[in-house]
Amino acid sequence: METSAPAKVILFGEHAVVYGEPAIAVAINLRTYVKIKKSEEYRVNGYPMSDKYHSYIKNAIKLCWDGEPLDIQTKSEVPSASGMGSSASITVAMLTALLAMKDELKEEKIAKLGFEVEYRTQGSASPIDTSTVTHGKGILVHREKKDHFLWKVEKGELKWYIHHIEVPSLKLVVGFSGIKGSTKDMVNKVRRFYNWNSFARDVIRDIGKITMEAIEPLQDEDYERIGELMNEDNKLLTILGVNHPMLKRMINASLKHSYGAKLTGAGGGGSIIALTDEQDEVAKAIEEVGGKAYKVEISKDGFRIE
Ligand code: MEV
Repeated sequence: METSAPAKVILFGEHAVVYGEPAIAVAINLRTYVKIKKSEEYRVNGYPMSDKYHSYIKNAIKLCWDGEPLDIQTKSEVPSASGMGSSASITVAMLTALLAMKDELKEEKIAKLGFEVEYRTQGSASPIDTSTVTHGKGILVHREKKDHFLWKVEKGELKWYIHHIEVPSLKLVVGFSGIKGSTKDMVNKVRRFYNWNSFARDVIRDIGKITMEAIEPLQDEDYERIGELMNEDNKLLTILGVNHPMLKRMINASLKHSYGAKLTGAGGGGSIIALTDEQDEVAKAIEEVGGKAYKVEISKDGFRIE
């Protein structure tokens, strides 16, 4: 059984979405592939499955597999801890394979279980990453918007409605810093700030407002405005303390040739995205300051049986 799932980039709303604010993300054309077959013992890429290195895979198995042990092979075009959703991508590819083997493959089930795996593995998460890589294209999560939602999820006091959202074929460049960012550490860092400081709570709300403001320009293909909003979002994320000098360097380098640029994902390392008409120039600028550039396109496909 071979399956795959795309990576994602968050256009607006990371971190704030953990507190119920809206977020918008798109699936991108870098994928993670998983091949599984029944076996004598659990192995991942030839090694015994471990809590430390295979936590997402292990939790996916815990949640939806009680059959024979499995031999799992993974192959990924997505660098790990890069802000591009490598963990969501492996989780969703893995769940797709397990559910397909059980003859229980349903899109909503993959998305719901995917969120649960991330939540359990990280201790805290929103459904933005796992729903984007499950469904593909553009995804908006919102706590109140109920018209035409795909599914909804509740965690304690928080509720998120998951929607597909129309996005134009954005020309994006991802700049990976080469520095791994831990989502768990960054989410915890923001939580400490949020719990102690009402100013942090205002910043989170302002990030939510920017996300809502971005919906119309995304639908109107108003790249200038989308870029401005990306820059504003990046300033607020910097105030939250999740930026990094290497990310700032790549953002400054890309801004000469782009409408806007911001960190994407959890930050603290990881990646930036730049919106541009000149992907080659932006990629070159990112590489000149030491980043690794990926010229990406939006993936229409989410999970897939290969
Ligand atoms: C990570 O890609 C996005 C965060 O908002 C965490 C989450 O939503 O689970 C930082």
